[in-house]
Amino acid sequence: MADNYDDYSKEELIRELRAKNQKPRFGLYWERDDIEHERAINDDFVALDLDESLSCGDAPFQNLIIEGDNFDALRYLRMTYKGQVKCIYIDPPYNTGNKDFVYNDRFIDKDDVYKHSKWLEFMYRRLAVARDLLAEDGVILISINDENRAKLELLLDGIFQGMRFGSFAWRTKDTGNDSTGNFSAVHEHILIYALSGFAFNGNALNTQKYRNPDDDPNGHYALNPITCAKTFKERANLYYPIQDPQTGYWYPCDPDRVWAYASEERLKTGSKIRTETIESYLRQGLIVFPECKLENTFYYETKEELLAAIRQGTVPVLPQKKTPLLREDLPDLDFWIGKRIATGRPSKKSYLNDKTNLISPVSSWIGGVNEDFDEEDEEAVFFIRSQKGREGTDAINEILGAKAFNYPKPPSLITELLRQASKPNDIILDFFAGSGTTAQAVLKLNAEDSGNRRFILVSNTEATEAEPNKNICRDVCAERVRRVIYGYSNKKNIVGLGGNFAYLKTRRIASEILLTEIQHSQIWTALQLNHGVALSAFNPNSSVQQLQTTDNTVMYLCQLTEQELTAVIECLEKQQTTVYSWQPALLSHYIENVNLTCLPIPKFLLDRFGAGVKA
Ligand SMILES: C[S@@+](CC[C@H](N)C(=O)[O-])C[C@H]1O[C@@H](n2cnc3c(N)ncnc32)[C@H](O)[C@@H]1O
Repeated sequence: MADNYDDYSKEELIRELRAKNQKPRFGLYWERDDIEHERAINDDFVALDLDESLSCGDAPFQNLIIEGDNFDALRYLRMTYKGQVKCIYIDPPYNTGNKDFVYNDRFIDKDDVYKHSKWLEFMYRRLAVARDLLAEDGVILISINDENRAKLELLLDGIFQGMRFGSFAWRTKDTGNDSTGNFSAVHEHILIYALSGFAFNGNALNTQKYRNPDDDPNGHYALNPITCAKTFKERANLYYPIQDPQTGYWYPCDPDRVWAYASEERLKTGSKIRTETIESYLRQGLIVFPECKLENTFYYETKEELLAAIRQGTVPVLPQKKTPLLREDLPDLDFWIGKRIATGRPSKKSYLNDKTNLISPVSSWIGGVNEDFDEEDEEAVFFIRSQKGREGTDAINEILGAKAFNYPKPPSLITELLRQASKPNDIILDFFAGSGTTAQAVLKLNAEDSGNRRFILVSNTEATEAEPNKNICRDVCAERVRRVIYGYSNKKNIVGLGGNFAYLKTRRIASEILLTEIQHSQIWTALQLNHGVALSAFNPNSSVQQLQTTDNTVMYLCQLTEQELTAVIECLEKQQTTVYSWQPALLSHYIENVNLTCLPIPKFLLDRFGAGVKA
C-alpha cells in the first residue's frame, strides 16, 4: 500500500480516503476469501423428517432432538423459533485438530493451514443464525478453553454487538495435568452474551439462620465470623486480643486467621480505613460473645505456667478445628499473663433488613461442590457450584454402561447454569449437543420445580468414511436422554425423570426441486413448529391435518376437494381457524361464500411452500 501521497492528485486522494473509510478499523480477521465456503447455502431448503421409532414417550412431543449438521438445523429453527429461545448453551468443538468439527463434509485435521480460519468461519455462520433465535430476554452461554477464548470472544463481540455480559471461569480438575513447563491448565471459560432483558435468577437469601433471641430492635440477624484468611505474619495489625466489655474476659486472635476488622489502638495516628473498626462495632453492640462460664475460662499466673500449658496442649483452642490459639512463636505471649481467657469465638450481627432478597452469582469462579468459601462472603455473593469434568464421563458410563463419548460436560455444570439462566417455561437450545447433557439438565430442573422448560438439541452423527454407520445423535444423545426419561438400572435402579422428545432428521432440498420434493409430512412438521405447539406425527390416512392452539384451530390441506372443503367449513362454524392450502385462491372463493375474512399467511410458507389463507 502506498504511504507517500505526494504525487497523488486530489481525486486520487479522495478515492484513497473513501476506500480507507470503508475498511473496518478494528476487529478479528480470518482468511474468509481464501477458504472454500461451506456448501450448505441459504438457498437450499432444509426440511425435518420426524422419526417416530426413535422418538421417546407419547406425542405431542414437547422437546426436539435433531440429527444433522447444526447449520442446517439452525436455519430451520430460525424459520420456526425466531426470537423465542430464552437460553442457548453450547460447548462447541475447541478446534483441537483432533477431527472435532466438520467443514464441507470433511473433518479438519491438525495440519490444515486454514484450521483457525475454517473454525472461525464455521462458528461465525452458526452463531450469526443463532443470534436471531434469542428472545428479548435471551442469553447465550458458550463453553471454551483458555487457548481459544481470545479468538472466540472477538468473534462474539462482532456477532453479538452490544450484548457482551461477562464470563464464568470453571475449574475442570482438582488435580494438575501433564502439561509441560510446570503449568497445569485446569480451567475453562463460559462466555455470556445477552439481550437487554436478561438477568440471572440469583439465589434467594437463606433467611433461616436469621433470628432475634435478644429482641434486638433492628430485627432478625445472623451471626457471622469476624475473621479473614490471613495469618498473623501477613497482617500483624489485625492480630490483637479482643475483650468482652460485659465479662472482661479476653479472646485471643487465631494466628492463622486474623480478625477482619482493624483495631483503633493499632491504627497509626491519622490513617484512614474503609471499614469500621472493631471498637466501633463493639460500641454499637454488634459484636456478640459466646456465653462462657468462669469455670471454663483459662488463667495463667506466670509465663512458665503458660509455656507449660502450651507444651501440654491445654491452652484455649478453636472450637471446631481444635488448633491452639496460643503458641510459643506468637509475639504477644506476655500479654496473656494474669488475664481471664474465654473459650469460643466472638461474631458479628448481620441484619436481615440490610440484605436484598437476591444474591447474584459471581463470575470469578464456578466453585466445586465441596469447595470451602468464606461464609461471610457467601452471604453477599454466591458461587455457582459444579462438579469437575470427570462427572461428565461418569454420568455417561453410569447411564449407558460404557464410555460412549469423549469429554461430555458434567450434568451439574449445565444444570446450575440453566438454573440461573432459565425460567420454568423457557425454551433451551444446544446446537452442539454431543452426548445430550443439556437435555438431562433441563429434565432435572423440570423434575425439581415441576417446570415446563423445553429443550431443542442438535447433534451430528460423527460418521466418517472409516465409520460410516457411526451415529452419536441416535446411539448416544437420544439413547441417553431416553434412559434419563424412562429410568435405567446400573448398580441401582434410577427412576426416570419423565418427559418426551421427537427425533427429527434434517434433509436439504435444493430450491429448484423444492415443490416437487417436499413431503406433506415435512410441511406439517414446519407448520406445527411455527405455531409453537408440541409436535405430532403426520397422519398419512387423512388429507386434512389439524392442531389446536389455545385460541385457534390450524389446518393443513394436502389437497382441495369437496371432502377437505367440508372439513374446513365445519371447523370454521365452530371456532377461529387458520388454514394452509396449496390452492388458496380457490379456498378463498369458497370461504367468501360463508362470509369470512382472509388474512395473509406467514411469509415463510409463501416463500417455501406456496400460499394459504388465514380465516
Ligand atoms: C464438545 S462436544 C459437546 C459435548 C456436550 N456438551 C456434552 O456434554 O456431551 C461438541 C459436539 O459437537 C459436535 N459437532 C461438531 N460439528 C457439528 C456440526 N456441524 N453440527 C452438529 N454437531 C457438531 C461434535 O461432533 C461433538 O459431538
